[in-house]
Amino acid sequence: MTDFNTLFDQIIAELGGRDAVMALLDVGPSALSNYRKRGTIPSAKQALLDEALARKGLTFEADDLRLSARNSGEMRRVLLIITGGIAAYKALDLARRLMERGISVTGVMSKGAQEFITPLSVSALTGEKVYTDLFSLTDEAEMGHIRLARETDMVLVAPATAHFIAKMAHGMADCLASTICLATSAPVMIAPAMNPQMWAHPALQHNLTTLAQRGVEIIAPAIGDTACGEVGAGRLEEPIIIAEQVSARVRQTHQTVALSGKHILITSGPTIEPIDPIRFIANRSSGKQGHALAAEAVRRGARVTLVSGPVTEPPPAGLTHISIETAHQMKEACEAALPADSAICAAAVADWHVVGASTSKHKKTQAGPPVITLATNPDILAGLCQHDKRPSLVIGFAAETDNLETAAREKRIRKGCDWLIANHIVADAEQSVFGADTNQVLFISSDACEDWPSLKKTDVARRIFDRMEAWFDCD
Ligand code: CTP
Repeated sequence: MTDFNTLFDQIIAELGGRDAVMALLDVGPSALSNYRKRGTIPSAKQALLDEALARKGLTFEADDLRLSARNSGEMRRVLLIITGGIAAYKALDLARRLMERGISVTGVMSKGAQEFITPLSVSALTGEKVYTDLFSLTDEAEMGHIRLARETDMVLVAPATAHFIAKMAHGMADCLASTICLATSAPVMIAPAMNPQMWAHPALQHNLTTLAQRGVEIIAPAIGDTACGEVGAGRLEEPIIIAEQVSARVRQTHQTVALSGKHILITSGPTIEPIDPIRFIANRSSGKQGHALAAEAVRRGARVTLVSGPVTEPPPAGLTHISIETAHQMKEACEAALPADSAICAAAVADWHVVGASTSKHKKTQAGPPVITLATNPDILAGLCQHDKRPSLVIGFAAETDNLETAAREKRIRKGCDWLIANHIVADAEQSVFGADTNQVLFISSDACEDWPSLKKTDVARRIFDRMEAWFDCD
């Protein structure tokens, strides 16, 4: 049984660390030390912890001194498939982070992974047997690969090498790890790690798109130094971030929530259009509204594909995030993500791109500035509305500076979407909706025009999804 201090450490980790817990309880470090010494927490403070844990879908079971997911007596189980890259050593930290979040971890290792870390170290850390061999008679006697694949709440491949991703995309079953990926009915998440050139290669990206279309959720690698000395996208995402995303997703799979079974496609952020390798045309979109919508859709149990331009906002946990730059890339990613039950186009798509963007830097010359010719970008929202696989509920956003209601009503009809959420844009950057946390919008459908009060973007998202749930119920 867990002792009080181990449990208290788990609670602190779940709630965002010591500082966050001290702020929540309104106490200093000495109070936390006293709780540890006494092995109890005063009831008023315990109530605050219970409330915060409940918001994360957890409950504190005082009798057993353990944290567990609410509405279910069982522990969440994750099958952690470790494949053979240098980042395999980070899988040990990842296993620990998952366990801190009340998740039990069973390790499965590919042959390559065993070149980097040993099954013994994974097993010592997780306290569970580690599986390595498809044809092991002992393993088959104890737990066949099909049972292993089925009796889990999630399959997580981390790190996922380019080779293993290719095997998954092609449905190969030549080892225990790839066989599990085919045999499982649980959600599958992968956290790739590789050299930046390999990550950028069209073959790898094509395999990822295939997997995303099949519902595999991808935790994109981070940008930075990689083990091979090159800098770029390819580093395994930090174990703590992966653990957060997996924990959010694994809990969601146990909740029967209103939008479970629905696939929602959301665009967010700006698109940027290159002028040359250094310069581009951009806009002020922060992605806050689109990302808030995506987070709300995940909370309500939907499978979410978020196609986003470059923003500083991190992608919410528990969804498939496809990162793009240009309008053409956004269109391609959206169409590849179909079918979807609903599409919400919250991105500020650039209306134009530069014709024949230069592959070398424009230099200052005597002839004066370069002449830039623009061409119109495809309209992604209108394209989705006319698509053979049109989602049954398509929602657009509109940014207008003049005659908000008339322009928005006209835009809804012109684009062919069901609902349109319209913002009034002011010239003053201080009061602008771009980058702000609040939004004041008109909600427009074929038979309604509602003026919503100024709301936090998260509350605008909530209202839109309340509407969507009602709409799907009546559908
Ligand atoms: N949109 C899109 N593709 C584009 C342009 C816009 O999908 N190329 C979507 C936006 O995501 C938004 C809606 O269309 O949901 C309206 O965007 P907005 O910028 O207000 O409209 P525009 O079509 O650009 O029209 P205008 O600039 O003339 O107001």
